[in-house]
This record gives sequence, C-alpha cells and structure tokens, in this order.
Amino acid sequence: MSIGILYERSETDEMGIKLTARELGINLAYIPFRKVAVCLDKNGYSFRSKGKTYSKVIEDVHVILNRGQSKNRRLFAANILEALGKYVINPPRVEFICYSKLRTILHFWKEGIKTPRTVYVPCDSHEPTMDGSEIHNEEEIADLIEQELGNRDIVIKPDAGTHGKKVKLAKAREDLLTILGETEPSIINPVGILAQKLVQKWFYDLRIIVAKECGKAPHCYPTALARAGFKDFRTNTFLGNMVFGVNLPPYIKEVAVKCGETIGRDSKAWLIAFDAMIDVGENKIADDEPIKAEFEKLESPFNAVKKIKRKGTKKRDFLNWNKKLEEAFQNYKNQEAYDNIKRIIEESVERNKHNILFHEANACPEFWEQTRLVAGINLAVPLLRCAQSVIDSDYGG
Ligand SMILES: Nc1ncnc2c1ncn2[C@@H]1O[C@H](COP(=O)(O)OP(=O)(O)OP(=O)(O)O)[C@@H](O)[C@H]1O
Ligand SMILES: [Mg+2]
Repeated sequence: MSIGILYERSETDEMGIKLTARELGINLAYIPFRKVAVCLDKNGYSFRSKGKTYSKVIEDVHVILNRGQSKNRRLFAANILEALGKYVINPPRVEFICYSKLRTILHFWKEGIKTPRTVYVPCDSHEPTMDGSEIHNEEEIADLIEQELGNRDIVIKPDAGTHGKKVKLAKAREDLLTILGETEPSIINPVGILAQKLVQKWFYDLRIIVAKECGKAPHCYPTALARAGFKDFRTNTFLGNMVFGVNLPPYIKEVAVKCGETIGRDSKAWLIAFDAMIDVGENKIADDEPIKAEFEKLESPFNAVKKIKRKGTKKRDFLNWNKKLEEAFQNYKNQEAYDNIKRIIEESVERNKHNILFHEANACPEFWEQTRLVAGINLAVPLLRCAQSVIDSDYGG
C-alpha cells in the first residue's frame, strides 16, 4: 500500500513534497483533482480524466495527501476520498473546522484556549427584497458590534478568507459603516459579519506547526515562523512582510498541542498550522524606531528573496530555482539585523507568552518557500511520516 498526492496544480509545495518523497525513497502516486470526473453508481465508482482512468491508482493507495489549493475543492476531495475508503491528510473533520475562522474559534473557546475577542452577527449588510429594492443593515450591525467591542479598532474579516484578503481595520464608526457596506455574501463569507477586537500585537504574529503521527502524541515544532513588519496591521507573509524563525517557550508549545488535539480530536494523523497573535499591549521591550531601522537594513536582502520567488523558472527548472532561493534566504538570515529582530521577537514572546491568542488553523499550509527555509521545518517530512504511520498501523508495518 502506498501514498498518494492530490492537487489541481503543482506549485512549489507540491514539487517540494515530490522531491522530498524521492529523497526518502517513497513512491508517491499522483491524483489530479480538476479536470476529472468522479462518477458514482450502483456498481461502484470511476475517477477519470479525458484520457486516463485513476480508479486503479486510487485503489493502490491507502493514504492521500490532500493538496487542493482552494478550501472548497479540498473539502470536497477529502469527503470523496474518505468515502472511497482512503485516509486523507487532513481528514474531512479537520478540513471542515479549519475552513471557517468562526468554527475554529468556537472549538478553541470551548476548550478554554484564548482567542481574540470575536463577534459574529448572522446578518448581511444589505439584502435584496422581493420588490427589487434593498434593505440596509449597516447601522444596526455596527451598533451590535460596537455594543460588544467598543467603537474603536475593530477588525472585519471574511470567515473563510486567505492571504489577508478583505481583512480590514475600522478605526472609528465611519470606517466601520464603510467597511460593512462593502461586504457581500460570497464563497469566502457565506453569511453575516465576523468582527474582532484589534489585538495590540506590536509588529509580529506567529505560525506554529503541530503534527500527529498515528500511535504517537501530537508534536509541536519548537520553532515558529514569525511574520513581521510595521507597514500594516496585517503582518501575514502574502502582503510582503518579513519572516523570522523564532524559538517557542514550552508554555506556547503546550497550548498549540491543545489546539491540535481540539481540532484533530479522534483522527489518527494530521498536520495543522496555527496562526497566533500575542497581545503585547504596552509591554514592548524596545522602542519602535530602532527596530524599524533594522527592518530597513533587511529590505534589500529580503527583496532579493522576493525576486527569486517571483521568477517564472520555478516550474521549468525547479532544482536550480530552489538552490537560488536557498542561497537568497541564507544571505538574508546571515544579516546581523535578522538576528537582532529575531532576538527581540523571542524576548517579547517569552515575556508575553501567557497573552497568546490563537485565531486560525490552516489545513494545507504553504511551507516550501518560507517555513522550510526560515523556521527550518520541511513539512513534507512530517506529512509523509504521518501518511506512513497510518499505513503501518492499518497494515502492520
Ligand atoms: N483581531 C486582529 N487583531 C490584530 N491583527 C489581526 C487580527 N486579525 C487578523 N489580524 C492580522 O491580519 C492578518 C490576516 O488576518 P487573518 O489571518 O485572519 O487573514 P487570512 O486571510 O487568513 O490571512 P492568511 O491566509 O495569511 O493567514 C493576520 O496575520 C494578523 O496579522
Ligand atoms: Mg490567517
């Protein structure tokens, strides 16, 4: 029995998983999930593209790494594969919770894990009526949100958004009304408004990896990826923020494991990336200005990294491109400013560790370009280990 990998497009993460599998001597079977037809009838199922049948490939694998890019596609893939008797990493339950920020926060909250103060209003900002006009609910929604969060510094975000898209900050009621007016029910926010109190996180947030192999306790990786910058309140990497590998205090690793157990629950094997913010508030350990100066020193080496990331050769000549990326990251990490900022973040995390707030879980984290090279975690390894552990457990090794 072997391992499969499913995706719609092979990006660097998928190329990285395939490369890692080759290095580990693991044979990975490819299962496409875009221009294929999955057909179910009384005789069984078929899984076919126009030219090829994949049913046999699927029969021969026991565990499948689900690398569908969109959350919806990934959830459907997980449901289909599970129905076909496969173990999917991650299992549908994990995908389903991670899909929604509200669902994730509800699970954390139930377990007593601290989250940002969150408000959900199950009402859209404007609604069409039968006679073709529109009802506007912005004022009432704003009242409801302000009743819970006060009238300053409110973050509005789509429930299932990614890459910081449409995550907006309202500094005062006027902004809040404008932002609410711009919201539309969509695939990433089917109904209502999700709002949060702005966490005073200083200039960084954290991505923490927890994985569970079958038969073992969940493991939190000791290094997290800190995303940092002063340009925007959103410090996620997609917006071009810089990244640092920071060591985590034992307390935070324990809470992260609890987050994993909450979402992974009874599943045998899973891998989840958690996003967390630290409510630093006024407890800053240094002034902003000298830190901003350190960021400036890193601008040029980090731009060199970004330039390579944008290069079109990554698919055509992956190995060469990968080598260039590794060199650029190494040069960035060799800067004194990198160490200085990393140290400040580590000290700030240590001092404020009890104020950590978990707010999101990612079931299919990107890792090849940053988590691997900055935090030193090649997620392809635990993903493949998790898969192998399920095979060993179900087929006796
Ligand atoms: N309540 C909050 N207080 C302060 N900052 C926040 C808050 N919510 C989100 N942010 C900032 O905005 C960024 C994007 O928010 P969030 O993670 O919710 O969106 P996303 O679309 O899932 O982004 P990504 O896919 O990069 O994780 C976070 O990395 C964080 O820095
Ligand atoms: Mg996020």
